[in-house]
Amino acid sequence: MAMCVGLWATFISFLTFNFVNGEISCGVNNENGTNANLATKRDAGAFIINGKDAQPGQVPWVALLYIYLQNGRAMCGGAIVDNYTIVSAAHCFFSCPVPFPLPSLIPSLFPRICKNAMVNTIEVCIGERNRTDPNDGQTCFNATKFHIEPRYLCCSDDNTNDIGIIKIPQGMNIPKFTSDGYGSTNRICLPTEYDYTGPGLISGWGRTSSTSQETATVLQIANVDILSNDECKKDWDVTESQVCALGRNGESSCNGDSGSALFTATETGAKMIGITSYGIVNCVSRPVVYTRAFSFLDFINSHSGPEPQNTK
Ligand SMILES: *[C@@H]1O[C@H](CO)[C@@H](O)[C@H](O)[C@H]1NC(C)=O
Ligand SMILES: *[C@@H]1O[C@H](CO)[C@@H](O)[C@H](O)[C@H]1NC(C)=O
Ligand SMILES: *[C@@H]1O[C@H](CO)[C@@H](O)[C@H](O)[C@H]1NC(C)=O
Ligand SMILES: *[C@@H]1O[C@H](CO)[C@@H](O)[C@H](O)[C@H]1NC(C)=O
Repeated sequence: MAMCVGLWATFISFLTFNFVNGEISCGVNNENGTNANLATKRDAGAFIINGKDAQPGQVPWVALLYIYLQNGRAMCGGAIVDNYTIVSAAHCFFSCPVPFPLPSLIPSLFPRICKNAMVNTIEVCIGERNRTDPNDGQTCFNATKFHIEPRYLCCSDDNTNDIGIIKIPQGMNIPKFTSDGYGSTNRICLPTEYDYTGPGLISGWGRTSSTSQETATVLQIANVDILSNDECKKDWDVTESQVCALGRNGESSCNGDSGSALFTATETGAKMIGITSYGIVNCVSRPVVYTRAFSFLDFINSHSGPEPQNTK
């Protein structure tokens, strides 16, 4: 399938084409406009933390999220799953008064706390690469329709069920593959099996160093190993609905990467394995915990596609 997409790119060079949905399969990228297949690219190298700049169009499903708060703005990532739907981490949707104000022992209190702490608007940019360049292909939307996993306990120390969905009711006009890769967009494939271990990739605009708060200007990509939960339990008390990954050379998701996808790249396209959830302070030498996408397929599917106009 990726081969066919490549051929089309040869014929359409120098033009920007908007394919109708279905002609570009999920999980296919468009690196430098060549529709290159990510499977051959286990070369992101050492820095995310220890990632390197993603090439234009290399991660076309990535979404940059800005959450505007009273005292500034927070940054997260997300992944496009269809024309109307972006998957991210639930914790990106909440501005909590103080960390962990209540023990998760009193879950009955959370609906009210969460309602008050939920943000109103999230700015979503797709086709983005250099965040400070307003003209490198991105399209942005201010989104106000969200769905949070109903079991997620916001503002608590319980990080399970950390998944949320952003709706773009007017549609994002994806996929779009351009002749130079810039501004390319596509959806990522959803996982088809519970278990994935081995090579994975992470991407985002989060902190690029464990010793500074500085975040990336240009989208970063890095290689990681997806661990079995038994392996991860040496470091974290993870549940079946979470999955961990660790870089061999210090590659790691960090603050600002929350909500971005952990994915695998195969001949049939990239698959979302996890959603960046949490890790150790300063992000070094410990696995990062991701929400396991496969455990939430029902939730994702139930909020995918166009939505009736009057739901919130
Ligand atoms: C994309 O461009 C970069 C920089 O020129 C190059 O290093 C990389 O190999 C290219 N990727 C592909 C798939 O052509
Ligand atoms: C990102 O964009 C800004 C503004 O156009 C530019 O000054 C900067 O050099 C760009 N960074 C990279 C790495 O391309
Ligand atoms: C979204 O809202 C923010 C804050 O009001 C504003 O700065 C930004 O330009 C808006 N973006 C879009 C795409 O409308
Ligand atoms: C995707 O969204 C665009 C609006 O940007 C819309 O024109 C198009 O019909 C949508 N495609 C599908 C398949 O829903």
